[in-house]
Amino acid sequence: MRTQVGIVGAGPAGLTLARLLEVAGIESVVLESRSRDYCEHRIRAGVLEQRTVDLLREAGVGERMEREGILHGGIHLQFAGERHHVPMQELTGRAITIYGQTEVVKDLIAARVESGLPLHFETAVESVDAERGIVRHADGELECDFIAGCDGFHGVCRAAIPSEIVRTFEREYPFGWLGILAQVAPSMDELVYAHNPRGFALLSLRSPELSRYYVQVGHDEDIAEWPDERIWQELRARTGLEGWTLEEGPVLEKGVTGMRSFVAEPMQHGRLFLAGDAAHIVPPTGAKGLNLAIADVRVLAEALVRRYESGGDDLLKSYTQQCLRRVWRAEHFSWWMTSMLHRLPGDDPFDLQLQLSQLRYVTTSETAARSLAENYVGLDVV
Ligand code: DHB
Repeated sequence: MRTQVGIVGAGPAGLTLARLLEVAGIESVVLESRSRDYCEHRIRAGVLEQRTVDLLREAGVGERMEREGILHGGIHLQFAGERHHVPMQELTGRAITIYGQTEVVKDLIAARVESGLPLHFETAVESVDAERGIVRHADGELECDFIAGCDGFHGVCRAAIPSEIVRTFEREYPFGWLGILAQVAPSMDELVYAHNPRGFALLSLRSPELSRYYVQVGHDEDIAEWPDERIWQELRARTGLEGWTLEEGPVLEKGVTGMRSFVAEPMQHGRLFLAGDAAHIVPPTGAKGLNLAIADVRVLAEALVRRYESGGDDLLKSYTQQCLRRVWRAEHFSWWMTSMLHRLPGDDPFDLQLQLSQLRYVTTSETAARSLAENYVGLDVV
């Protein structure tokens, strides 16, 4: 089989790229190792930058997002027994949209299926040949002009770049997040990022009836140690305020997320271009992962359109450089938010005072608040 662009992975990066190429009249084949059901039900983050929303809308897959997405103009930072509002929209002119990554994926899959274009689930890619543009999978080979490696951190594509060329940058954090999806109306108007001596907690949501809450736990925490009542108790202890109650409801789903920072460069080799988690990971604090993945494929789609329309490969050549500027800004921001809000094993009173001072600074200085806000809502070009 032959195609113009072989896309490995049907997550947000692969599916959005497929859609952007479809709009531009460039053919692609999407191969995904998991089932459609799996892809449509794994629960991930839920904060979309304005730029991400705009791109999905322009690509014609934003209809349900516009109907069901919830606009938020700010976030709350809670520490030392007080909750402070950071008015991001006032500070930057931009808002964020609460709409689950899972829902974005469902909308993109539905659009691809409706277009009748190739999207093969349960088709594991075994290896890719970056030089020759060949994707080897369980049912044969796909010959491509270009390959988009959108197969996540554990995918096979990154390994196709020779190890003598790749540089990796990495940090692991000695903690994780235990997340729940609960069938109860959110108890707060906007997201709450809570610093607490017991550890970090985050109050988020998916809809007016569904809350998404997280608590910081050990990095290899056994979920069996966390019956629902213990989770609620911990959430109450870390986010409690006088005159405010965290409403509880049935827990529909729970899981532990690891925390890692990772960047591989270059993001391209031969005919292969990596996008999203295949090339970089951020810890979840600040919700940058999905937005970065979409930003990568916007750059890649533009570069491919240029290549097919005029034969010029200047944008393809500058792909790594263009993406990495944004990636490193998000790496720094996510690391910084993570460091400011979590308890670190072995931290001492000095570390704690530094965190509290930084939190006080970003909630009292307009300049500092604007810096946090512009990173949170997404910087244009860095
Ligand atoms: C969510 C996840 C995040 O990492 C974050 O910073 C905010 C919200 C979420 O899942 O809703």
